[in-house]
Amino acid sequence: MRNLGHVAKYTFEDILGNSSKIKDAIEKAYRFGDVDATVLIYGETGVGKEFFAHAIHNVSPRRDGPFITVNCAAIPDNLLESELFGYAEGAFTGAKKGGKRGYFEMADGGTIFLDEICEMSEKLQTKLLRVLQEREVMRLGDDRLITVDVRVIAATNSDLRKLVKEKLFRSDLFYRINVLSLVVPPLRERREDIPFLLDYFLNIFCKKYNKNIKGIEPEGIELFYQYDWPGNTRELQNIMERLVILTDSNYISADLVTESLMISSPDYITVSPSPTSQFENTYDQELTLKTELDSQTAIVKALAAAGGNKKKAAQILGISRTTLWRRLKKYNIL
Ligand SMILES: Nc1ncnc2c1ncn2[C@@H]1O[C@H](COP(=O)(O)OP(=O)(O)OP(=O)(O)O)[C@@H](O)[C@H]1O
Ligand SMILES: [Mg+2]
Repeated sequence: MRNLGHVAKYTFEDILGNSSKIKDAIEKAYRFGDVDATVLIYGETGVGKEFFAHAIHNVSPRRDGPFITVNCAAIPDNLLESELFGYAEGAFTGAKKGGKRGYFEMADGGTIFLDEICEMSEKLQTKLLRVLQEREVMRLGDDRLITVDVRVIAATNSDLRKLVKEKLFRSDLFYRINVLSLVVPPLRERREDIPFLLDYFLNIFCKKYNKNIKGIEPEGIELFYQYDWPGNTRELQNIMERLVILTDSNYISADLVTESLMISSPDYITVSPSPTSQFENTYDQELTLKTELDSQTAIVKALAAAGGNKKKAAQILGISRTTLWRRLKKYNIL
């Protein structure tokens, strides 16, 4: 019963990376395919959690059954309840005639993927716990229990243990879903994957945009290695797309890489001339306007290369942190 939209598109072949860390995660996930226990996938944004969830379902005995994705963060709480568990006819004004099946019923015989599970309200966590324990759902406004045969895969980019400690996530639900846990490591902990991903996406986007780019200037590649990739593979993919679109020569320039990383980084900073410049007469008086601009640009570039980390940026520039700090203030780069 592979109906449109309820199919897991990705397989383990779609998960890119050569590092031992990503290979270990793939191998572990592959083994999770054999069993029916609940899986909790943990990893930062953009590491490929969704790909892993699809891939696990696709090697599992449930692969011919439905795969239903529910993004718990995207659906408002009151709606999420009826979407997950369904409702009976007349459950509320505007309810459909004959009621409606919820995602759990729709996932019967297959897998339900609860993405961003940490966003679920306390009330829904309680209801979910009951469903997981009893394998039965009750539609809103109904008194009948419906048995469901569903495997649950959940994902989160927040540390659920921490949320449990802070009493924001039910500990009994945590133990229920954390039967098999899979951690997908961030890109900065497997930098060996960077050149591979870079080549892969360069190829893909050259084909897509009909370009013939041979590579990135060495200095640009260096920036790729130094950058911290807070948005992980998704960020690298997006940056490669931008670089390919904006390049018409044989090689992608290091300047364009710098600019792209700067724009992409969450610590993105804009340079504007200091309106007050109260430090002007005290510090760096020797700077002419031209060198001042060069200095600003250098700072911005260094910060981008350091992923916004000021200590690293100071190291790149060969100046002390206090000097960097002073200049940031002076140029109003904050
Ligand atoms: N290992 C990977 N192999 C191939 N593509 C990847 C990989 N990781 C991420 N991507 C790319 O990044 C995008 C985001 O991946 P995915 O949606 O699985 O991330 P996520 O971990 O679920 O992130 P979020 O927490 O933000 O939802 C994918 O659409 C894919 O293009
Ligand atoms: Mg996701």
